[in-house]
Amino acid sequence: MKPQRKVLGSILSAAVMLTLLAGCGGQTPAPAAAPAAPATTKEAPAPTDNKKLVVGFSQIGAESGWRGAETASIQETAKNDPTIELKFSDAQQKQENQIKAIRTFIAQKVDVIAMAPVVETGWEAVLTEAKNAKIPVILVDRNIDKKNEDLYTTFIGSDFVLEGQNAAKAMVEHLGGKGNIVELEGTVGASAAVDRKKGFDDEIKKHPDIKIVKSQSGDFNRATGKQVMEAILKSPEGKNIQGVYAHNDDMALGAIQAIEEAGKKPGSDIKIVSIDGIKEAFEAIKAGKLNTVVECNPLLGPQLFQAAKDLKAGKQLDKWIKSNEEVFSGQKAIDALPNRKY
Ligand code: AHR
Repeated sequence: MKPQRKVLGSILSAAVMLTLLAGCGGQTPAPAAAPAAPATTKEAPAPTDNKKLVVGFSQIGAESGWRGAETASIQETAKNDPTIELKFSDAQQKQENQIKAIRTFIAQKVDVIAMAPVVETGWEAVLTEAKNAKIPVILVDRNIDKKNEDLYTTFIGSDFVLEGQNAAKAMVEHLGGKGNIVELEGTVGASAAVDRKKGFDDEIKKHPDIKIVKSQSGDFNRATGKQVMEAILKSPEGKNIQGVYAHNDDMALGAIQAIEEAGKKPGSDIKIVSIDGIKEAFEAIKAGKLNTVVECNPLLGPQLFQAAKDLKAGKQLDKWIKSNEEVFSGQKAIDALPNRKY
């Protein structure tokens, strides 16, 4: 026998012996190629250590371009983070749907509940249930009434009062301190509408020659903003208007259509100021139809999940994680347009 064959023969005989021995113990031998089970299997981290952080998010709906950008930011951030599981629920503008979603998240024992509350009031009962279930709640973008501050851990979002003030300052400048204004308000009872109105109206009061002659809700959406503006333009007050302040860009874009259809020039006959900063608003500034946009950041996904992780790690969070925002008019807006992310 050649030496190579001799070696092969010994390996085969050893294999046969091993197979027989294993057979005696009644166990099926592991295939030769299978790696041996690591000796540390028992000490490997318990499944709970590897468990994803489950976050239930109750979104208001899809009423505006801004809202779409916020939803995308939250969904994409979760998708790109293997440690996160997102349970997403769209309430279609109804508070009762948000309450149902939160109850479902509680029943599912999620780690963290996040929500953008459609209105400020009416959360006490359901958020108390979350508190009793020891599930922390993070408010995203909109706030709830002050008396229920102990029912959430942190609020991640903008200073809506400041946005209103900044919008008013821009309007005063565009009007040269004199004129009649229409205010298109957001959803009735929403913190974004309540605070943007407060900030704007208080600032405008400092200018006695500027009057808010009509103030009406356009529900933060374009179609309603347009309808409301059409009706106002047909009313007696509508005949003498120099400015429109819209609580969001979508309503401003609807108002622009209504003004054009009424044969007037938005941006010059009637100055327009709005809040959000979606790309379409920047394009309207470039086209000379909108005068100023006050930015409101919807890209809150990264901050939300960081806050959820910090909470689970036992860290103390600030009660308000505030967004930093800018005001855009004229050339500044045109220059910023190519880099807008939403
Ligand atoms: O709460 C933020 C507001 O809600 C945004 O300004 C608006 O576009 C949205 O629908």
